[in-house]
Amino acid sequence: MMRDDIEKILFDEETIRKRVKELGEEISRDYKDVPEGVFCVGILKGAAIFYTDLVRQISLPVQFDFMIASSYGNATESSGTVRILKDLDYDVRGRHVILVEDIIDSGTTMHYLLDYVLLRKAASVKLCAFLNKPSRRTVEVPIDYCGFDVPDEFLVGYGLDYAEKYRNLPFIGVLKKEIYA
Ligand code: IMP
Ligand code: MG
Repeated sequence: MMRDDIEKILFDEETIRKRVKELGEEISRDYKDVPEGVFCVGILKGAAIFYTDLVRQISLPVQFDFMIASSYGNATESSGTVRILKDLDYDVRGRHVILVEDIIDSGTTMHYLLDYVLLRKAASVKLCAFLNKPSRRTVEVPIDYCGFDVPDEFLVGYGLDYAEKYRNLPFIGVLKKEIYA
């Protein structure tokens, strides 16, 4: 069972549900005067589950788009090079964009994508991350909407994987060290 690989549960389903609802309400308030609503870009695959929960808590029109990015480097050190594997489908010029990510770690990926979308002349770009690991940051990124700050532990579930596994766990848990050590 996948559950046997989990050291402890950090955020259970109910805690996640409540926090995502609050984030959706906050976004709805902030953009209430934008008639066309927000352009939400989900960063696949990690943000897929958070994204679909979040957009259902936003009471404004939401245009969907997704990107896939890969950052070069090994697990402990980011090279600072990000490659876009799937680009935006739509023109974001003049739109109010929110980048939706699962977790911000070194900050490399988000820093790059933020600049990339701004170059496409979006009216505004904000970052929404379900989790934030501030202790690991090497590049400064402004997180406008953040679910939870987390300690420097390897987390899985609610979209987050280890070697493409555990994404479908409905909670955020700490992976047992013996699984990846
Ligand atoms: P960054 O560019 O270093 O901020 O990379 C963020 C990405 O690293 C996230 O989108 C995740 O895919 C991955 N990541 C960082 N920490 C974790 C973790 O604890 N569990 C699973 N994936 C993680
Ligand atoms: Mg990711």
